Amino acid sequence: MGTYSGPLGKPESTMAFALTPEREQQVDDIITRYPTRRAALIPVLWVCQKQNSWISPEVIDYVAARLEISAAAVKGVVTFYTMFHEHEVGENVVWVCRTLSCDLRGAKAVQEHLEERFGCHAGGTSKNGKFSLFKAECLAACGQGPMIQVNDRYFENLDLTKLDQILDAYEKNGAEAAEKQFADTAVYNGHVAPPGMEPPPARPSVGAPAAQKPASIAPPKPASIAPPKPASIAPPPKPASVAPPASAPPAAARPAPKATLVGMPAVGASSPPPADTAAAPAAEDTTTDDAKKGEE
Ligand code: FES
Repeated sequence: MGTYSGPLGKPESTMAFALTPEREQQVDDIITRYPTRRAALIPVLWVCQKQNSWISPEVIDYVAARLEISAAAVKGVVTFYTMFHEHEVGENVVWVCRTLSCDLRGAKAVQEHLEERFGCHAGGTSKNGKFSLFKAECLAACGQGPMIQVNDRYFENLDLTKLDQILDAYEKNGAEAAEKQFADTAVYNGHVAPPGMEPPPARPSVGAPAAQKPASIAPPKPASIAPPKPASIAPPPKPASVAPPASAPPAAARPAPKATLVGMPAVGASSPPPADTAAAPAAEDTTTDDAKKGEE
């Protein structure tokens, strides 16, 4: 317990959280590695979570005071990274990877088995407080799925029998003993072959002299395949000569044009006069001069 002056000018308050002397020393060492105290935020939070198992409001206040930054700055980092717990968790935290590569190899069955065994869904804690279960996005062990992470340790190439062996060890013997039991993760995770099977070929260590290059093997030449000649194509046949149309007949041979207007003879045509106009000559006036005078 101790007092501190809050980073936002808050009055002095009593701290509900304090690290052990060993961890205090650890935090001092971490701070000296960075040019600013703020830069040490994540590793300092990590030390606190190791002791408290989650980042409580008191831990946020403690870290803010220790690094001389605001509590809001600390909370922003805590809420961003899933590895920091904002709520109390069980003794051991189990992450089950549910991304594609692990899912294709049975991660769903692993999650269901864990939920059944713990009696809680992902995001919850088992009744005995021994395990909290979370779903994780890819944990970068895609070649060895399905896999889980228990606290800081990966367990890969799982089947349900192996899964129960691991959980039994953590539940009955505690995390420290379980980690010792599965210390040889290379064997346990299937990175090396089980007894009686041929071990995988050794990989050259980084910086080792380059292995002799294998003789270059020229790729076989493909048989030359002459491209097929195209069939000769005869030029298209000449179109049959088309005789020009016979020239129009001379004008003299043409028939006389017809009259275009009703009742009008065609120019140059000698047609008889119409019937009414071709009447007999007018009747001679037979009235004598005397008679005409008598009438007068
Ligand atoms: S998909 Fe599971 S570790 Fe990558």
